[in-house]
Amino acid sequence: MMARGQSPVAKAKMRGKFITFEGLDGCGKSTQLEKLAAVLRVRGIDVVTTREPGGTIIGERIRAVLLDSRTAGLDPHAEMALMFAARAQLIAEVIGPALQDGQWVLCDRFTDSTEAYQGGGRQLGSDAVLQLHRSLCRGLWPDLTLLMDSDVSSSVSRARRRNLTTAEEMPNENRFEKESYAFFTRVRDAFLEIARREPQRVVLVDARPKLEIVHPQIVRVVFERLIAKRVRI
Ligand code: TYD
Repeated sequence: MMARGQSPVAKAKMRGKFITFEGLDGCGKSTQLEKLAAVLRVRGIDVVTTREPGGTIIGERIRAVLLDSRTAGLDPHAEMALMFAARAQLIAEVIGPALQDGQWVLCDRFTDSTEAYQGGGRQLGSDAVLQLHRSLCRGLWPDLTLLMDSDVSSSVSRARRRNLTTAEEMPNENRFEKESYAFFTRVRDAFLEIARREPQRVVLVDARPKLEIVHPQIVRVVFERLIAKRVRI
């Protein structure tokens, strides 16, 4: 029952916006995501940040299996299924409720990563990924996806540098970082193909310039695409 004095209009909250960040490993998307979240919060927008695979207790356990270099024998189809298992949990527990509540959700990777890494990198194809998305993600697509495009070689060498720095105490090269130059080239090509296919949702951002140069570009895209259209913010 509605509380006294509360109008039906006041009760119906505007659905929040769903923004995803995509790109190769080490392209700087996590940092850019946090910087965008800070800008939106200053504007009074209630923002939730999360990441994939992970973002829930169950999802983080799935993530550990997926990234652990000891699970080297993981079948590509099993890998794809685990990505979607973590995603279904994240949608049910975090993304769906937050959007319903009017919050904006900023997510580090989503189904485009599965299409790029499993569909492209592991060569399972886009159809397999999109079919699973349809049945497991209940038609949820981002309002905006920022695809941070970077060089394959810089991603691979950044991952290697990170491993060399930490290798002595704790070797942390994850299963994806062990992949070859050819693998990451297929991943990048698949990302670029998604951007060509869905220009209304996916905006390509050159991730190669310095962080301080890329950040205002991202803010501008978000304002133009999502905020300028809103009556009030
Ligand atoms: P992470 O350490 O979070 O990498 P990054 O900081 O680059 O995001 O590891 C996530 C890895 O999982 C990354 O290599 C991409 C991969 N991945 C997939 O292969 N498929 C997916 O659907 C998702 C969400 C991630």
